Order: sequence, then structure tokens, then C-alpha cells
Amino acid sequence: MKDIKTAEAFANSWNNLPGGSVYTFDQFEDWFAPLQKSDFKDKNVLELGCGNASLLVHATQWEPSNLVGIDLGESIVSANQNMSQTGFKNYRIEKADLTEYRAAEKFDVVYSIGVLHHLKNPVEGFTSAVENTKSGGAFHCWVYAKEGNGLIIWVVDPIRKVASKLPWWINKYLIATPLSFLYFLYAHFIVALGISFMPLYAYSQWICKRNFMFFRHVAFDQLVTPQTKYIDRATIERWLADNSKVDPAQTYMIFRNGNSWKFGGKVE
Ligand SMILES: C[S@@+](CC[C@H](N)C(=O)[O-])C[C@H]1O[C@@H](n2cnc3c(N)ncnc32)[C@H](O)[C@@H]1O
Repeated sequence: MKDIKTAEAFANSWNNLPGGSVYTFDQFEDWFAPLQKSDFKDKNVLELGCGNASLLVHATQWEPSNLVGIDLGESIVSANQNMSQTGFKNYRIEKADLTEYRAAEKFDVVYSIGVLHHLKNPVEGFTSAVENTKSGGAFHCWVYAKEGNGLIIWVVDPIRKVASKLPWWINKYLIATPLSFLYFLYAHFIVALGISFMPLYAYSQWICKRNFMFFRHVAFDQLVTPQTKYIDRATIERWLADNSKVDPAQTYMIFRNGNSWKFGGKVE
């Protein structure tokens, strides 16, 4: 339960949003590639750190046989509300610590998006993803990269260390909102002019497809958490190589939007 403060902070983010997913279906697909519908169809799927079920809501469209989402925070309230509105019946949202979670029956697919970098010990989340995947099944993770995030690490992260200690509404409305507005202007400016050498250019191209509310959601998500780590390529390579259950012939690592890593593989 060492991540309980992080989970409680995120619940303030997730439980104060309008209903439904915060992501578009395109974003969902982008986060999961190279996994696609055929990897989920008729499969038993687990999400570690499901937040308000924004990804699970879209995952229903890939027609899994069963969806399970776990989260340590009270975001399970909005997760249940959002899932109940999809009409998909075979789902379960559980309150649990993902680092300790070991399902009685392992899953065909286990994923964790945007979570491991918030854990006190990120490798425990990776190990849990592998441990909860059945033999021949797939695991898939996405984390903030150390590479390409200099601006965030040197400018935003020091602000986060202070802002995350404030009441959530001060953080959201007096810090995240003006900061996200400045970044909104910066991102649209560099993308419109094609200034590709500027920091966060590729990421800005991605996020500029969304409106200001999404910018603010991402900024608040960054600033609300007491714990963030930026994970480099070598660390992920080591996680994949050191876990004896991971099939070394089936792993992948993809640098996404110039500042994050998608990685995964199959369990032997
Ligand atoms: C940035 S959110 C990502 C939510 C979701 N995966 C998404 O992409 O929309 C991180 C989530 O991980 C949860 N979390 C953090 N540490 C956890 C832990 N040890 N066990 C379970 N959930 C945890 C937080 O409560 C939060 O909802």
C-alpha cells in the first residue's frame, strides 16, 4: 500500500471529470499498438491502475470476453460508473494494490498505461504485469521516458513537487489551468510553424489534436501526483531481459511521441 497517497491524489483527478472516457478511440488504439482488436477479441483482459476506466471503456469495443480493472484509489467509483454506461456486462473493477495483485486465474492480456512511473518501485508493477499474464499471453505497458522529457523534468517536475501538496482544486484551477494554457499556446505555435527542433514537438503534434480541456486534464494529471519517475531505455531493456518469464524473442519497445516508451511482449 506504499502508493496509497498517489492513488488518493489521482482519485481527485478522476472523480472530478465529466462521465465517459477522457480519451478518443484513436488515442486508445495508438496507446495499444502493436496490440489490436484481434489481441483482445474473446480474451480475458486485465488493466493494472485503471483510473476512471477511460481505457477500459474503449476496450469494450475490441470485444474481449472479460475485462478486469484494478486501482488502489477511489477512482474505482467513477470507473464503475463509466463501465456501467457502456452496456458491456462482463467486467469487474476491484480496489487493490497492483504491485501485490496476483489473480487466481491468469489473464490472456495484461496492460498498464501511465501507471508504472508513478509507483514507488516501478519494476514491481512490471513484474505484476508479467506474473498476471498466462503462458502465451501478452503484456503491454506505457511509461514516461527519461529521453525527450528534459523540459518536463527541469520545469514541470519541480512545480509538481510543490503543487501536489496543495488542495486538489487549488492545484487544478490555479496552477494546472494557467500552466496548461501556456503550454496550449506553445504547442499550437510550434506545430503550426513546424518548428520541429523545439522541446516536446512530437508530443505537441499528438496532443494538439485535442481541445484545451484535454490539455488541462494532462497537466493536472502531471501535477497532482506526489510520485513521478522518468524511465530510460536501458532500465526497460533490463526489466525485460531480467524477467525469466518473458519470452526474449517476443519483446518490443517503441519510442512514442518523442517522450515515452511503449513496451511489452509475451510470457513463456
Ligand atoms: C495516470 S493514472 C492512469 C489511469 C489509466 N491507466 C489511464 O491511462 O487512463 C494512474 C493510476 O494508477 C493508480 N495507481 C497508482 N499506484 C497504484 C497501485 N500501487 N496499485 C493500483 N493502482 C495504482 C492511480 O490511482 C491512478 O488511477
